[in-house]
Amino acid sequence: MLGVVGAGTMGNGIAQVFATYGHDVVLSDLDEGILQKAHGTIEKSLSRFVKKERLTADEAAAILGRIRTSTALGSLADAELVVEAVVERHEVKDRLFRELEEVVQPDGILASNTSSIWITQIASATKRPDKVIGMHFMNPVPLMKLVEVIRGHDTSDETTERVLELARSMDKVPVEVNDSPGFVSNRVLLPMINEAIYCLHEGVADADAIDTVMKLGMAHPMGPLALADFIGLDVCEAIMEVLHRDLGDDKYRPCPLLRKMVMAGHLGRKTGRGFYEY
Ligand code: CAA
Repeated sequence: MLGVVGAGTMGNGIAQVFATYGHDVVLSDLDEGILQKAHGTIEKSLSRFVKKERLTADEAAAILGRIRTSTALGSLADAELVVEAVVERHEVKDRLFRELEEVVQPDGILASNTSSIWITQIASATKRPDKVIGMHFMNPVPLMKLVEVIRGHDTSDETTERVLELARSMDKVPVEVNDSPGFVSNRVLLPMINEAIYCLHEGVADADAIDTVMKLGMAHPMGPLALADFIGLDVCEAIMEVLHRDLGDDKYRPCPLLRKMVMAGHLGRKTGRGFYEY
């Protein structure tokens, strides 16, 4: 059995992928309402695969049947691996990992889907830092091939191998990286998004023009501003803050327009308004 804690966008996508490849999954969240919403999101995503004839209706039903939801962390006791996908605040993650340490069987791997928090720091909250690792999926999880696998300072070779193997067995392509602010994905992606926001802020071009340049000129599936709305502007700001603080270079300063939009509560798709309206 595999566990997922946090049933937001990333957590429900991870649970779906685990169940698609035959694993029994426990998806846990403090909030029963979020669990119900996650169930609906997974159902909708699976129905898109059925429509495309990549799954039969029976297969989709079986996948859904393998996912059990629970508000109790105790239900993760027998998990071989638990992926955490809760809010990007290190004090919340530290507390959760201390709790997981108590409930998950001693051989269980504790993975984090964090986009920018040090794996080494999360691992230090537990007594099994050799079994703590980053397993960073990309949104939308059922479609994106990459899993960035991040080794903390004390992550063992055995843990890394088990996670690489699990990712490969689910038709993902794992890429192993070392623990460093933003890892590789967000160290490269977020400064590009931040620079696009600076272009808008400084009046170099409007949002549509900036996104069109990057879509048609660089063959990106989405322009950087549309992607920022998709990721969530609060998440983008938090990642830039980590890069700025931990790499200590002003080239990573979050654009004032990004800060202002987050303050105003315009967080992108999830609030219905970001650089675009939804
Ligand atoms: N489940 C199942 N199918 C889905 C889906 C989901 N969750 N989301 C989209 N699809 C399907 C759609 O049904 C559609 O199928 P058809 O082609 O059969 O119609 C197909 O995917 C394409 O979707 P759309 O037509 O809606 O739009 P699109 O062609 O622009 O593709 C996209 C959507 C796959 C999201 C594409 O725009 C894309 O790859 N965007 C970039 C995503 C990206 O960069 N993700 C990484 C973000 S960073 C991150 O996650 C990490 C972090 O730490 C911040």
